Amino acid sequence: MTELLRRAREFEAERRLPDAERPAYHLTPPVGWMNDPNGFSVYKGEYHLFFQYHPYSVDWGPMHWGHAKTKDFLHWEYLPAVMAPDKDYDKDGCFSGGAIELPDGRHLLIYTGVSVNDGRMTQTQNLAVGDGIDYEKLPENPIVKTSDIPEGGSVRDFRDPKLWRDPDGTYYIVVGNRAADDSGQILLYRSPDAFHWEYVGVVDSCRNEYGKMWECPDFFPLDGKHVLMASPMEMPRIGLEFHPGYSTLCLIGDYRRETNEFRRERAQATDYGLDFYASQTLLIPDGRRIMVAWMQNWATARCKPIGKRYFGSMTIPRELQIRDGRLIQNPVRELESLRGEKTEYGDELISGETVLPGIRGRVLDLTIRVRPADADGYRWFQLNFAQNEQYVTFVRYLPGESKIRVDRSRCDFPYDVIHSREFPVRERGGELKLRVLLDRDSAELFVNDGEQAASLLLYAPQDADAISFDSDGRVLLDAVKYDLS
Ligand code: FRU
Repeated sequence: MTELLRRAREFEAERRLPDAERPAYHLTPPVGWMNDPNGFSVYKGEYHLFFQYHPYSVDWGPMHWGHAKTKDFLHWEYLPAVMAPDKDYDKDGCFSGGAIELPDGRHLLIYTGVSVNDGRMTQTQNLAVGDGIDYEKLPENPIVKTSDIPEGGSVRDFRDPKLWRDPDGTYYIVVGNRAADDSGQILLYRSPDAFHWEYVGVVDSCRNEYGKMWECPDFFPLDGKHVLMASPMEMPRIGLEFHPGYSTLCLIGDYRRETNEFRRERAQATDYGLDFYASQTLLIPDGRRIMVAWMQNWATARCKPIGKRYFGSMTIPRELQIRDGRLIQNPVRELESLRGEKTEYGDELISGETVLPGIRGRVLDLTIRVRPADADGYRWFQLNFAQNEQYVTFVRYLPGESKIRVDRSRCDFPYDVIHSREFPVRERGGELKLRVLLDRDSAELFVNDGEQAASLLLYAPQDADAISFDSDGRVLLDAVKYDLS
């Protein structure tokens, strides 16, 4: 083990934060900074998740890979960090990548090595093999070099390999790259053994339509379709579908492996909230496709909450489906095992701000359904949470405009940056179903059984735990709330 990795392991072991300082069921770093999920994989029957990691401060720094594993996506066990930037080809960072269990029982990691020499940056793809605890970088690294980039592709923006094995045993990676037109393209490479790689072709390219560089690609079959996900940088605003800046993109279409042709049918955002980036998925043995993402956004990642000793967390892992040509996402069903005390209401009339006794808290799973109480309908319905006299975060549904607005401008966020976002929802005659997961500093919304998800961080003190409902008209509300433990 190199000195750099030993130091990181000692540091995280000594400085590991107490559980009370973290969310109850979301993964955060043991200490310091976390960004993208990496190497989401099944290894020896458990789910392993690595992450972009800088243990020494709450800021991004020379990238290491941190490590955790779980059996249920909710209870995470920290394992020692697995990689530090200690080779000439990755001395400026071990960037994002994937992982897989090899047939011989070893765990294989693939990641981007960043190295800057005389002011010139190159990114290459590299391997490390291990046993679930300790990993060795291969002497053959880099195994996908800058010379393996097709003509015109950038050697500076060539990163984030996502690895899988097809049923016929062939290994593939998709890698994000910047094409000659300055915008993103997703490159496909193939290997018979995961060690020797050859370039296949471009799966899809941005052509300056959905932002510039596409980071953290993923490419997988789902319910008879093929999905290409990426996290575009410099996205323009596109209606209410895509917010500007660091955005998320989910392209759904058909794919022919023989000719490597991906035909897009739909482009949608993956998540419509304020904090979601760099998603990665995993197919698990029972057939579910699970997605996890960094619950943050580079646009605000410098805006740290005061006094926190870690920064960055993952979203709740989500089960993916395609329904009516759209991506559907819902929290992993394992979450139900955390459900404790239940509070339930049916047909409550909401007209003006209303509190329902027993519905409050900051670590919970709340599902509400609303519908107009009479023919007059309503123009807006609002769910307030993380609320007290001083603070509130809310979700406002505007049925006439078929949209939802989330707003955390009064959540004690220490900077006056973008705090609200609007997104389109399917109109259903004023009916809305909304599931909200709260976990201390975060809220994740799932609209109409997963047609849209929206994730956000909020920093109001934990005693701001009231929840209330409000409308300008007369609305009937059903609500079921579970405390989560
Ligand atoms: C995305 C990203 C990746 C890169 C990593 C570096 O959030 O920029 O493209 O591998 O973060 O930490």
